[in-house]
Amino acid sequence: MSVNSNSRDHLLAADLSDASDQDLDLSLRPKKLSEYVGQPAVRQSLEIFLQAAQSRGENIEHVLLYGAPGLGKTTLAYVIANELGANLRVTAGPAIEKSGDLAAILTNLQDGDLLFIDEIHRLPHSVEEILYPAMEDRVLDIVLGKGPSARTLRLDLPHFSLIGATTKVSSLSAPLRDRFGIVYRLDFYNSNDLQKIISRNAKILQLEIEPQAQSLIADRARRTPRIANRLLKRVRDYCQVRGTGAITLALCRQAFDLLAVDDLGLDEVDRYLLTTIIEKFGGGPVGLNTLAAATGEELMTIEDVYEPYLLQLGFLERTPRGRKATVLAYNHLGIMPPAGLF
Ligand SMILES: Nc1ncnc2c1ncn2[C@@H]1O[C@H](COP(=O)(O)OP(=O)(O)OP(=O)(O)O)[C@@H](O)[C@H]1O
Ligand SMILES: [Mg+2]
Repeated sequence: MSVNSNSRDHLLAADLSDASDQDLDLSLRPKKLSEYVGQPAVRQSLEIFLQAAQSRGENIEHVLLYGAPGLGKTTLAYVIANELGANLRVTAGPAIEKSGDLAAILTNLQDGDLLFIDEIHRLPHSVEEILYPAMEDRVLDIVLGKGPSARTLRLDLPHFSLIGATTKVSSLSAPLRDRFGIVYRLDFYNSNDLQKIISRNAKILQLEIEPQAQSLIADRARRTPRIANRLLKRVRDYCQVRGTGAITLALCRQAFDLLAVDDLGLDEVDRYLLTTIIEKFGGGPVGLNTLAAATGEELMTIEDVYEPYLLQLGFLERTPRGRKATVLAYNHLGIMPPAGLF
């Protein structure tokens, strides 16, 4: 059997895969901090920073948001801007190729603006260096000319705050990380919080949904709001076609059977990866490259999309020699673990 996700729709991938999902993301995005579900530590701390900055009439410190895809980094950036009544200029690491690109963005900001740089770990090094003095002293150093006659011109920048977001905080250079005054890690969500999100979004989409159906979707959403939203949408489609439109528990179960999403939110690809490790490699350890070749999945997809949740569940273990399936994975798949694996 080959379950190649390249030819499939990445239903459970937490990244944004198609345009309709992007529209959904926009329409369901909370705008106020009070609507932002979960992440209690982040919300409490942010509330204080926002109030303090507002009462002093100052900008907030630079904020770094990190966490797995779909956990609400971009949403939080918009919430911060909205709460401050500030303008949010949005860009992304890969979009800024040259230092001149960043210089143009920075010099076009106004006092009080927020600059959001998504995927900030992908900024080229030369661009990052422009950012240091901009963040620290709100100045821009421009080098005029080349060689011995080169001169540096220092320009004052408006009072802006930077919000950086990244899924890979370990790829961020230490000097850049150190320049953020506020650093928040977004956690995976619990089932209760996901149910709140689903319930709120069902209202926005004007869907009738049974509470048990909400909790079923929440339990299969890989602890990620974006996946909860996507599953809600797929289940809605199913219920429209197979029922009267209302999302009942029974129809919801049928929809998940059709989508081959199991009770922990694993799909065919997750199960195929685990079975491959178990059946072809004796449970591992197996290197990611070998696993990618054996399953026909792309290495990056395994690493960014599938592995984080399998690690979260404790189904996979990372060892210096590669990935190993744990006894929990054997149990979930109904495969007898080898003697000695507890
Ligand atoms: N705390 C939250 N409360 C309610 N809904 C949320 C929350 N966080 C995320 N969502 C929902 O999940 C969707 C995805 O969130 P968002 O785009 O902010 O994730 P992200 O962390 O920026 O992902 P990526 O790393 O892919 O950029 C949002 O459109 C929103 O509907
Ligand atoms: Mg984002």
